[in-house]
Amino acid sequence: MAENGYTNKELKKYKNMAKEKIILTGDRPTGRLHIGHYVGSLRRRVELQNSGLYDKTFVFIADAQALTDNMENPEKVRQNVIEVALDYLACGLDPTKSTIFIQSQIPELCELTFYYMDLVTVSRLQRNPTVKTEIQMRNFETSIPVGFFTYPISQAADITAFRATTVPVGEDQEPMIEQAREIVRRFNYIYGETLVEPEILLPDNAACLRLPGTDGKAKMSKSLGNCIYLSDTADEVQKKVKSMYTDPDHLRVQDPGKIEGNTVFTYLDAFCRPEHFGLYLPEYLNLDELKAHYQRGGLGDMKVKKFLNEIMQETLEPIRNRRKEFEKDIPSIYDMLKKGCDTAREAAASTLDDVRKAMKINYFDDEELIAEQVRKFSGE
Ligand code: TRP
Repeated sequence: MAENGYTNKELKKYKNMAKEKIILTGDRPTGRLHIGHYVGSLRRRVELQNSGLYDKTFVFIADAQALTDNMENPEKVRQNVIEVALDYLACGLDPTKSTIFIQSQIPELCELTFYYMDLVTVSRLQRNPTVKTEIQMRNFETSIPVGFFTYPISQAADITAFRATTVPVGEDQEPMIEQAREIVRRFNYIYGETLVEPEILLPDNAACLRLPGTDGKAKMSKSLGNCIYLSDTADEVQKKVKSMYTDPDHLRVQDPGKIEGNTVFTYLDAFCRPEHFGLYLPEYLNLDELKAHYQRGGLGDMKVKKFLNEIMQETLEPIRNRRKEFEKDIPSIYDMLKKGCDTAREAAASTLDDVRKAMKINYFDDEELIAEQVRKFSGE
């Protein structure tokens, strides 16, 4: 035995664990993924996966979480699992570098959730601002499903089961990561250092934090019909860009226009790189010049939209083409997911061993416990 009742082997394992940098993130399969997902998290994940800075990357399809507010719609969730998997691969997530898996296939996550429930109060859950908004949006006020209400706890299980250090997500997920951090601190305080406290990794550009819908509304959502999907055809993308919300008071080309709340410029902030000017709009040096001209007056919406369309097509075409390739061999996608689930399950099971030990519910692999009981009952 070394420090704190841990064996030397265990101490070594935990010290290594602390050094490992592990990424984990996921999406609910309630629809195809759109460009809000892309700039908010997907693009960054692929960069992180390829950066060589992380020891492991886990990306998963949160079907069990999707069911918490789609319990009557299992077919929708089932259909979208493969859509999301295709979107992942199309964006460049690579199963040889990242473990891609399906949440419901990892029963260890349920077990962890059950134990974490003891560490969280109802009033703490009620304060979660993202869950609050979602309850309103779904008209759940008077009949909140318990599973939905407690999904932040299950999300803490998703994160900690894989000892994630880094969770790249959009801004709306901040309360979930905070909740996970609290659970980790409380668990470690009560049961001893066992779990790893995760950190959130937000997009570094404000436009990417929450990309508005093409109608200028705060959020891209399927029900509002204001999404540009990664799998949209070139025509669909062009149509959507053309009809995009701009400055409603910018009626004539010579009028001064507003940049704030102007979706076309928000999208440019998220997608435009300096080299795009040389390629598609050489009259301007950079985005600041373009914005200044628009604000001054004399720059028409159509010209800016045409520029944005070029950029969107350049970004989305390779994704769309890769998706088509992957669509040709669907069985191999399920095969890849199954392998991912096996790998993920092993990782989660190893964490669960530690959790059960820390919580003293590991009756059958603890020889010391049996010896202790023998002593107790033999009257020693
Ligand atoms: N709540 C996330 C979303 O709606 C999906 C999710 C579930 C997730 N578990 C997670 C994201 C763990 C990051 C880490 O997009």
